[in-house]
Amino acid sequence: MNAIASLDSDIIAVLKGYPDATQDQLIPILQDVQARLGYLPREAILKISDHCSLPVGRVYSVATFYNQFRFRAPGRNHVQVCRGTACHVKGSLSTLDTIRDHLEIDNEQTTHDGEFSLEVVACVGACGLAPVLCVNGNVHGSAAPDTVRKTLSSYRAKEKSHAATR
Ligand code: FES
Repeated sequence: MNAIASLDSDIIAVLKGYPDATQDQLIPILQDVQARLGYLPREAILKISDHCSLPVGRVYSVATFYNQFRFRAPGRNHVQVCRGTACHVKGSLSTLDTIRDHLEIDNEQTTHDGEFSLEVVACVGACGLAPVLCVNGNVHGSAAPDTVRKTLSSYRAKEKSHAATR
């Protein structure tokens, strides 16, 4: 199955769970599609609009209102940097700057090779480990610049070894 067919079938699978959907189900549908695909591609917005009988602009305006929704494909390793208060006090700006420099991307961007994406988030509930970053949902605490570079390098090395066995 090619990538577009797979994308379509994933979106359709979600929509099947919402027969006769209206605007009331719009947010759960957007959440489910994003949970499945990692983001909301244009194709998904169009299909959701059609399925819910809502204008495309309405679906976009709801999706863009909430900052939980992403419109670009995440990298194979999704990096989240906490900028909540405890992490801020413990130097999360340096953590974030280190990641920006190391990966050469900014918030909400993905590296050219698709390996890493970056997202700034609020408290992830691990304040005792501040400053915190998460990679693919795994929490890494005490994320000082040196540690951050090592952590990212270890994910890059894992990715290379996976690629070699594919
Ligand atoms: S403020 Fe960063 S984990 Fe709570």
